[in-house]
Amino acid sequence: MALKTINPTTTDAWKKLQAHFETIKDTHLKTLFEQHTNRANAMLIQWDDFFVDYSKHRITSETLNLLIDLANEVDLPDAIQHYFSGKEINQTEGRAVLHTALRQDKSAHIEVDGTNIIPEVFAVKDKIKTFSESVIQGELKSYSGKPFTDVVNIGIGGSDLGPAMVVDALSYYANHLKVHFVSNVDGDHVNEVIKKLNPETTLFVIVSKTFTTQETLSNANTIRSWFLKHAPDEAISKHFVAVSTNIEKVKAFGIDEYNIFPMWNWVGGRFSLWSAVGLSISLAIGYENFDSLLRGAHKMDTHFKTADFDKNIPVITALLSVWYNNFFGAESEAVIPYSQYLNQFATYLQQGIMESNGKSIDRNGKPINYQTGTIIWGEPGTNSQHAFFQLIHQGTKLIPAEFIGFAKCLHGNQDHQDKLISNFIAQTEALMNGKTEAVVIEELKAQGYSDEHIKQLTPFKIFEGNKPTTTIFIDTLTPESLGKLIAMYEHKIFVQGIIWNIFSYDQFGVELGKQLANSILKDIESDNVVNPHDASTQQLLAHYKSLQS
Ligand code: F6P
Repeated sequence: MALKTINPTTTDAWKKLQAHFETIKDTHLKTLFEQHTNRANAMLIQWDDFFVDYSKHRITSETLNLLIDLANEVDLPDAIQHYFSGKEINQTEGRAVLHTALRQDKSAHIEVDGTNIIPEVFAVKDKIKTFSESVIQGELKSYSGKPFTDVVNIGIGGSDLGPAMVVDALSYYANHLKVHFVSNVDGDHVNEVIKKLNPETTLFVIVSKTFTTQETLSNANTIRSWFLKHAPDEAISKHFVAVSTNIEKVKAFGIDEYNIFPMWNWVGGRFSLWSAVGLSISLAIGYENFDSLLRGAHKMDTHFKTADFDKNIPVITALLSVWYNNFFGAESEAVIPYSQYLNQFATYLQQGIMESNGKSIDRNGKPINYQTGTIIWGEPGTNSQHAFFQLIHQGTKLIPAEFIGFAKCLHGNQDHQDKLISNFIAQTEALMNGKTEAVVIEELKAQGYSDEHIKQLTPFKIFEGNKPTTTIFIDTLTPESLGKLIAMYEHKIFVQGIIWNIFSYDQFGVELGKQLANSILKDIESDNVVNPHDASTQQLLAHYKSLQS
């Protein structure tokens, strides 16, 4: 077995953390700062253009040491070694997990089944480069001899979320190509995209690792039928390309072999944007920028592999998450980027984090009796301040939050940037300090309220504070810094999966949904319901069918 199977709750560190938790759980963050004057600096990781302040957490140096002991007791160093060297750590699917190989240097040597995979990786990268450059420069023409104006990425899950998030996040670096994403099997999605397209100048990229996914094939078929109403059959070879491991199925769909960008089963769908799945990224921002994204991720890989755990960003952020999830009993975590460019970031992370670590069977195949996968959610600040921040500030739930901000803005509007960053900093300060009764009374007095009124209002205006946050401050949003940030979360996911003793790289729960949808579809399409269902499901089916004419 490539990974050790250690129940974290049986380790010495876990037991010590439980005892330690009892001594620290009620201590206010303000007290922790008073007790340790050098705290802000001691709990800071400065690495490249990342400035990661985790001092506003309900921890002491003892907590940190115990969490690091936990990582060592479950043998995280050994797991990291297996992860990067291509051991079969996705044991339930019999695969290595090597998205990190996609951003390796050309000189690297990583074997899968006895063959060095790096030359193949670079052959596909070259193909991405040549193809995207010729589309961007207008050398590769449409069937009627025109340059392409639009690109449509057809995929779902990892074949959509990563490219869609990155294309949006790096839109500052975009060229003239308009890139669209079609993912949902909801026909209104594909039709809304089609409305915006000219078939004569649109390139379609079908992305499906398996090339069997219902949503993607339905959308691809609908788009092909629409396209063929406007163009001759031979035009397919100029307008449709595919990214997949399933070459035979792609060819059966009618795509020329030359137009297939291969990927490999050692790349998980939710970690695949670094592969040819990122073709639409390369088309949107150019290959050089796509390569910078990969370079950034590679730098984070090296940091994760080599930095001591107490200065290791993915390790520390993962351990903090375990601390709240397993000791404080926190139900969820928020990610709040103070950048509108990262509008889709939390949605993207939801798949990576929840598909990977939403597991309840350990690596021994036994049910787990402790909490695993965190629930992740978030929206950019400052918008989210006017949406759900009330609950973080004054609700009953403890929600640790990661605040991500960029010190320099891209369009150079300093007035806006200063306002944005003042909110970014002010919120973590307010979440930590809260507002005391004395301050509330003073403020109300200054506003001229009567004593009686002040007495009534005061409880509602008190903020307890003590809400933990990490601040991830990055110099500028560039392809490289975004690559580092995404890779940071990938490794955070890995570390948590190792600690929780689960397999993070399968997704059988999602596959169940695929099977169920197919079985209900048969009942919808046939005159009679063929499969047995419970009374509620029968009723829903009958209601739906009665409304179709
Ligand atoms: O959502 C489940 C899933 O299996 C993901 O892991 C994957 O990213 C997605 O479906 C799409 O699969 P495919 O790329 O094979 O179409």
